[in-house]
Amino acid sequence: MIDAMSETSPEPRGRTGPRLVIVGAGKMGGAVLQGAIAAGALERSDVAIFHPNQRRLAELSERFGVAGVDAAGLHEAEHVLLGIKPQSFASVAPIVAQPRSAFISLMAGVTSETIARRVGSKRVIRAMPNLGASLGVGATALAWLPESTSEDVALARRLFGAVGRVYDLREELFDAFTGMAGSGPAYVAVVAEALADGGVRVGLDRSLARDVARQLLLASARLLETKYPSELKDEVSSAGGTAIAGVRTLEKHRLRFALMDAIEEATRRAGELSREDGK
Ligand SMILES: NC(=O)c1ccc[n+]([C@@H]2O[C@H](COP(=O)([O-])OP(=O)(O)OC[C@H]3O[C@@H](n4cnc5c(N)ncnc54)[C@H](OP(=O)(O)O)[C@@H]3O)[C@@H](O)[C@H]2O)c1
Repeated sequence: MIDAMSETSPEPRGRTGPRLVIVGAGKMGGAVLQGAIAAGALERSDVAIFHPNQRRLAELSERFGVAGVDAAGLHEAEHVLLGIKPQSFASVAPIVAQPRSAFISLMAGVTSETIARRVGSKRVIRAMPNLGASLGVGATALAWLPESTSEDVALARRLFGAVGRVYDLREELFDAFTGMAGSGPAYVAVVAEALADGGVRVGLDRSLARDVARQLLLASARLLETKYPSELKDEVSSAGGTAIAGVRTLEKHRLRFALMDAIEEATRRAGELSREDGK
């Protein structure tokens, strides 16, 4: 339910339409919408979708089981979730601009100051979710301009809390978060593939090796919910045994350095992309 926020909104309006409108119900916007409805963080009647193409709007509205709105309905919304691509923002901003609405943006690399300037409202919250959000195990960073109300922030926490964990983060660290949490699934996928290759190298069938690599990652992630990584490593590494022999080889080939450097390089690249898209 998002009822509390508008009751304490600074400029109450005689609105009759949905309180939250999703502009860009694609992979990420759609995952957040679906997750929030499934978790009971959002009532279907409180949310609607906007899309400039009528046919597409009808499709999205049917897919998510929520109403569609036109531009007039969009401007009635207390909150707008921007799930469009950063490259689309320049053309979409004049359509969504509304000084009395608050904006929650998923767009990578577009700063909250830029959003505020283009939509004419300083109630802007920036969210950086990652792929896990589509499975309910996301990691989302949130930052907001001081003009955002506590109800705006509470809504963002509810939406992203429905699809995983939420971290308050200074906006200057969003590139770092992108380099680690946003790009991280790719690094883990490379590790999973390399583990499977290792299994094949020592004689296991490819399909077995791939399956075992996945089970290893699942079990390790579950164990890391209650243990530090060093504890898990130490528990598996018995004196003079196989695991410590493998760990020594990873150190020799600088796996730690490679992963740390990957995050640093991805963070640098996120900064470069922000400068291109975030103006
Ligand atoms: N995917 C991720 O893992 C991830 C992670 C962090 C942040 N993000 C951010 O999330 C945003 C969306 O990414 P995505 O992967 O979800 O992309 P996506 O699947 O392409 O979603 C974008 C959606 O926006 C719609 N759209 C385009 N123009 C529109 C307009 N004028 N009005 C309303 N809707 C419009 C598109 O509709 P059509 O399909 O009809 O074109 C599409 O449904 C990006 O800004 C990205 O930086 C994504």
